[in-house]
Amino acid sequence: MWHQMKSLGYSASRRSFLRTGLASPGAIGAGLLANGLPSMAFAGSTLTHGDIDILRFLSAAEILETDLWQQYNELGGIQDAEVPGGTGSKAYTLALQELDADMPQYIHDNTEDEFTHFTFINAYLVSKGAEPVNLAQFRALPSSTATGAQKIKRLTNLMQLTVDTSWWTRYRSRTKNPDFGDTFPPAIPGLTQGKFPAIPRSDADLKPKDHIQAIANTAAFHFATIEQGGTSLYPALAQRVTNVEVLRILLSIGPTETAHFQTWHDKAGNAVPLTDPTNGLVFPDLNKPPFGGEDFQTNLIMPEPTIFLSRSFPVCSIIRPTETQGAAMAAANALTASGLFIGQSPAFFATLRDLATRADMAQRGV
Ligand SMILES: [Fe+2]
Repeated sequence: MWHQMKSLGYSASRRSFLRTGLASPGAIGAGLLANGLPSMAFAGSTLTHGDIDILRFLSAAEILETDLWQQYNELGGIQDAEVPGGTGSKAYTLALQELDADMPQYIHDNTEDEFTHFTFINAYLVSKGAEPVNLAQFRALPSSTATGAQKIKRLTNLMQLTVDTSWWTRYRSRTKNPDFGDTFPPAIPGLTQGKFPAIPRSDADLKPKDHIQAIANTAAFHFATIEQGGTSLYPALAQRVTNVEVLRILLSIGPTETAHFQTWHDKAGNAVPLTDPTNGLVFPDLNKPPFGGEDFQTNLIMPEPTIFLSRSFPVCSIIRPTETQGAAMAAANALTASGLFIGQSPAFFATLRDLATRADMAQRGV
């Protein structure tokens, strides 16, 4: 699989995208097959430009997810033939395991899943004669220098995160929905008030004990923050897809993001209450005042029913938000606001914005 990824030497630039002629009016037929994939599998199916733009944005999002998950796996997951790279950080892994002994396995599996998502979407794009996404030219950010991490260039930065944990209360509310304009308080207010590492930046971060535990806690909340984003992104963009096979792809990948989110939501609730002695970051006990109750209790990890479409309907247990207007740009903006791309080049942000803008212009049937 890793060789497959490296063999996709395509440019994601707008210029080369235009050069393929995909920006001209009309649908893309099944005749332009590549990579030796069987043509019969796609007989009769056509993609619109909107379908391709949505798939390309999702491919980019999955590449970015893969990059961050790889960093987590190198230091806190299981490094093996399925997810190679890194040798692990014992202190970080033990801190993660304070939340659940199986954390390394879950990190490994989430990482592999993201890798397969972008690899599949890119292969599908190629099979349709469309250009896959390759962000390799933007690998410019430094790795952690901690023992266990590969010393390679990255797309994402896990060392200065501002994590929005408002999904915690958003999924517990029975009366509010972000698609109605409602806002939600974060579970961990401190994570919105600074820039925090979610992986050890160096071996100096491995102690004192409450510091490396705070880093592991930050990671656990970041895991869920990332995956709840994917949980909303797929159903939002699916509403703009035209081709039924592309719809099937979105409807089949999206719920795996939800499976990840559900797992991480549960694990984040096990974060050890503490104050980081190095920076004052507080992880409160979410089961005690002033927290606790319906909005914060840690075992309320299944979505509470809430208002949906219209307040005149009975409440319903749903993914939220699923508003489709501007969904891709909202995802790009949320990732950017989290600090995930601190240090990236203007060209990177321009490419991300271009991919998001195109995806958001897609309309069902057009
Ligand atoms: Fe994914």
